[in-house]
Amino acid sequence: MREITFALAKGRLAQNAMRLLAQMGITCTEMQDPKSRKLIFTNEDLHLRFFLAKASDVPTYVEYGAADIGIVGKDTILEEGRRMYEVLDLGIGACKMCVCGPDSARELVARGENFRVATKYPNIAKDYFFNRKHQTVEIIKLNGSVELGPIVGLADVIVDIVETGTTLKENGLMVLEEICDLSARMVVNEVSMKMEHDRIEEIIRGLRDVLLQNS
Ligand code: PRP
Repeated sequence: MREITFALAKGRLAQNAMRLLAQMGITCTEMQDPKSRKLIFTNEDLHLRFFLAKASDVPTYVEYGAADIGIVGKDTILEEGRRMYEVLDLGIGACKMCVCGPDSARELVARGENFRVATKYPNIAKDYFFNRKHQTVEIIKLNGSVELGPIVGLADVIVDIVETGTTLKENGLMVLEEICDLSARMVVNEVSMKMEHDRIEEIIRGLRDVLLQNS
């Protein structure tokens, strides 16, 4: 039997997703060894393979069919814009994509144009400001600690993930507008969905049952 391959966004998301999969009997003991430098893990009995990848690479593996199934955040799915099916909301890592800044930037964002937006998510920011709000803004790509942007005068506002709001609060920033809800999603390669329909449907159904049991 052909192996079904999972690509998981490495870190807390992958750990939580593996816990959900374990609840429906899908396990991978090989993956639990913290000292291992292996990149790919197999469950031979179930004909499944798993690998961990940088979150932004997961949609790439899934679109090209190098992974049949991906587990990755909605933020990455929106930012990468790859062709694939999003089939299930796993509910883990729930947070929001927001426009944030100092209180003084509120007016600017509500009405103004030509302000600067720092973000790790330029495509999400472009879609929000250009297509939804019809505002002309300058988007500046950063790779982390985006909250620094307004503090040091690089940008007026940021587009970033807000989970507890602690990072904003500790840096004198606040949510000015909410863009969308985020959480981990299961995605499937378009061809795999046809070729391995029954096995993939069984996995989706199993996970959906687990989520119902946990709720
Ligand atoms: C994320 C995000 C915020 C923070 C939000 O950053 O970019 O900075 O978490 O969480 P909070 O609302 O619970 O404070 P991450 O920790 O991924 O690091 P980064 O800033 O380097 O991207």
